[in-house]
Amino acid sequence: SIDVCFSPELLHLYNLKGKAVVAVDILRATSTMVTAFAHGAADIIPVMELNECQAYASQGCLTAAEREGIKAEGFDFGNSPFSYMETDITGRTIAITTTNGTRAIRMSEEAAEIVIGAFLNLDAVAKHLTELQLDVIIVCAGWKGMFNLEDTLFAGALTEQLLDLAQFSSANDATLAALHLYKKANSDVLSFLNDSSHVQRMKRLGIQKDIEFCLQHNVYDVLPVWKKDRLVDLKKE
Ligand code: MLT
Repeated sequence: SIDVCFSPELLHLYNLKGKAVVAVDILRATSTMVTAFAHGAADIIPVMELNECQAYASQGCLTAAEREGIKAEGFDFGNSPFSYMETDITGRTIAITTTNGTRAIRMSEEAAEIVIGAFLNLDAVAKHLTELQLDVIIVCAGWKGMFNLEDTLFAGALTEQLLDLAQFSSANDATLAALHLYKKANSDVLSFLNDSSHVQRMKRLGIQKDIEFCLQHNVYDVLPVWKKDRLVDLKKE
């Protein structure tokens, strides 16, 4: 089955044991992680708190931190996918904390598998899930506990693919809502998202190019999954 959890704050209502979670924060945390792996990162350590993230610098990690859409002071990177194209990160470990995305990942640790999903690696995620044959819960990062549109659209896109692959069913309203919304938005996701809160926030911050970048489908054949205490790219294992 496929289910959608619209916010990490609702995770207590779900039983993750034995299931596959797809953690999603399209703008921008999971899109950025996928991009970092595609540009050579060895592994990524998502953490919830700024000081926790900062502490990884003394272990030779690169550090990345975002709050309110802005790079936090004292870290190597913020949360733009482009930062991992401008610097050589080959073989490096990146510790990262973001407002919502890293919370969605760390709050899903009970799951049998956590996969990092983005439009950028949609096909790789869908294919992996069909091979895993576990029930799927798509965990949207949302914004500070609230629903958001971009993560829901991704949930709809992934649901559409999984239903096409036949062995999945989606007999619940959250999944159906995501699917219907995606079908409506599909022909022009960028315009559909124009009035959404984080798109508006990012535009105010002048980071419009990140939005367009993160909405592209299947740019990278990358499959970040949670292994013990960090994310690794299964495609490189
Ligand atoms: C988050 O985790 O809330 C984000 O990815 C925010 C952002 O950097 O755009």
